[in-house]
Amino acid sequence: MKLRTIDYNNVRGKYVLLRDDFNVQIVDGKITDAFRIEQSMPTINMLRKNGARVVICAHLGRPKGTRNMEFTLRPVAEYMNVPLIDDCLNHEFIENMHDGDVVLLENVRFYAGEEENDAEFAKKLAAGFDLFVNDAFAVSHRAHASTVGVTEFLPSFAGELLNSEIVELSRVMENPARPLVSIVAGSKISTKIGVLRALAKLSDTLIIGGALGTTFNYACGGRVGNSLYEPDMADTAREIMQFAADNKCRLLIPLDKGVASEFTPDAVRTDKGFDEISDDDIIIDAGPKTTARDTDVIRNAATVIWNGTVGMAEWIPTWSYGSFALARTIAEQTRCGKLRSIVGGGDTVACLGACGVQDDISYVSTGGGAFLEFIEGRTLPGIAVLAQQ
Ligand code: 3PG
Repeated sequence: MKLRTIDYNNVRGKYVLLRDDFNVQIVDGKITDAFRIEQSMPTINMLRKNGARVVICAHLGRPKGTRNMEFTLRPVAEYMNVPLIDDCLNHEFIENMHDGDVVLLENVRFYAGEEENDAEFAKKLAAGFDLFVNDAFAVSHRAHASTVGVTEFLPSFAGELLNSEIVELSRVMENPARPLVSIVAGSKISTKIGVLRALAKLSDTLIIGGALGTTFNYACGGRVGNSLYEPDMADTAREIMQFAADNKCRLLIPLDKGVASEFTPDAVRTDKGFDEISDDDIIIDAGPKTTARDTDVIRNAATVIWNGTVGMAEWIPTWSYGSFALARTIAEQTRCGKLRSIVGGGDTVACLGACGVQDDISYVSTGGGAFLEFIEGRTLPGIAVLAQQ
């Protein structure tokens, strides 16, 4: 799919409404991971350099249509060193803007009309602008006023980040170097059924891990103790295994696990096979046999797509073992030119950052839900409205 892109020669003096995804983690008023903001900078800088007057619209969290200051974008404005306009519908300030100026509007989800994709709200949001640029890939799976509604009122284009996400993710979906190994982990099968099926169809090997993997182990008769898993998804897990077999995809489920008697970062770790797990055991990470097998598979891959950590990767070092081993192996293989690697999802990207290998990955997506929906082959509404006719 080709998207309408910006003609930077034609933006001087124009008022540009730019949608970015600044839904970043903020702890005690400080941004803990600015990846999405940094990835948005190329479009902002190009617009600014070419004399546009840039007004950024974004959301943070889920304030559910109320002005809840727990979700203010002020920390983002401070990080970017741009003014924050405290109401996204108050556009009086734009008269005082100069060419190259950039401001950020307060959280667009403070209004219910945003998530309802209300036409009146979208019209008010678009008022006074000459064009709309969407660079918010990570929220383009939502048909909201600031991703879809405003395109009814303004000439609309894709920014650099949105465009590169589509180019990179389409490339891996349409023409991957093989063997293609996909790794899907995280907590729930129920949120990933579509992506599991899509990747079972596309991949040569599909590695399943995390709590999601535990459900597969349970479905195959493994002991899972007191762990997080979805017993009512056992049939679905078996169906996915059959679907993978029908599509000649080798599906690998965990062989062993790191377990403890309590779910805390400092809990004492024991590694156990599935027949050894007791009723009180809580699975918190992938075990050494699983990790050795999976890193070996990665070493023989030409393409890896990875979404979801295989344990509590933020509980370093005891429980980050499995996820860090995957991250480091993918990074090593990519660095030496043997692998093309695509990673998406907030926790997975944070895991790359925590072991310092983010720059070694071929492409790191800013999308979480949007990444999964794109890989699944769904039409993302925020992108469909930008497609070239
Ligand atoms: C994300 O963080 O994945 C996007 O910003 C979408 O957020 P949402 O799931 O709250 O719509």
